[in-house]
Amino acid sequence: MATWEIRAEEPRDAPFIELLVARSFGPGRYAKSAYRLREGVSPEEGLRFVAIEDGVLRGSVRFWPIVIGPERALLLGPLAVEIEQRGRGIGIALMKRGVEDARSLGHCAIILVGDAPYYARAGFAPVPPGKIKFPGPVDSARILGLALVEGALDSLGGDVRRPRIDDPVCADGAPLA
Ligand SMILES: CC(C)(COP(=O)(O)OP(=O)(O)OC[C@H]1O[C@@H](n2cnc3c(N)ncnc32)[C@H](O)[C@@H]1OP(=O)(O)O)[C@@H](O)C(=O)NCCC(=O)NCCS
Repeated sequence: MATWEIRAEEPRDAPFIELLVARSFGPGRYAKSAYRLREGVSPEEGLRFVAIEDGVLRGSVRFWPIVIGPERALLLGPLAVEIEQRGRGIGIALMKRGVEDARSLGHCAIILVGDAPYYARAGFAPVPPGKIKFPGPVDSARILGLALVEGALDSLGGDVRRPRIDDPVCADGAPLA
């Protein structure tokens, strides 16, 4: 029986990912706060993954560079799996692969806007309300974070914005096991 595998996104995947994201989130996605942070910014190099089965795209995840207050972090999303392929573990596998690679690339923390019960499966937990401010309205209960470096979430706070070239890379800290 065929099964899916996770691999790094390749340029030829991009049009299929666009279609998947459009189908999964609809036209309302452009109005989302997270979308504004991605506008004009490329997804993080080395942190774009797809799930492929028999040469067909089943799911995708990308991470984006952002700045929170004075520090860089990653924004997870969009994460999407083709509707008829959901419930096979593809979403969690994509997310976990991204988290693992983000950790080995030396990133400090990941945040996202999403459903806490789902993302808790990969270690994400709600960020205390008011700590991180997105550009535009976001339900604070849906702002979730994951520290990749000891204490990284504790020190993270402030306005979220797109990165500039001179932003500092990462707070000092030992990578978490
Ligand atoms: C969310 C999404 C990526 C999950 O992908 P998936 O491949 O079906 O996820 P998995 O198979 O890894 O996990 C499925 C499990 O997560 C649960 N789950 C899925 N979405 C959930 C949610 N929003 N909240 C809580 N649990 C959720 C399922 O009930 C299932 O539980 P089970 O293992 O106990 O049966 C997929 O449903 C999707 O593309 N949705 C549309 C886009 C979207 O909402 N993206 C996430 C933004 S928050």
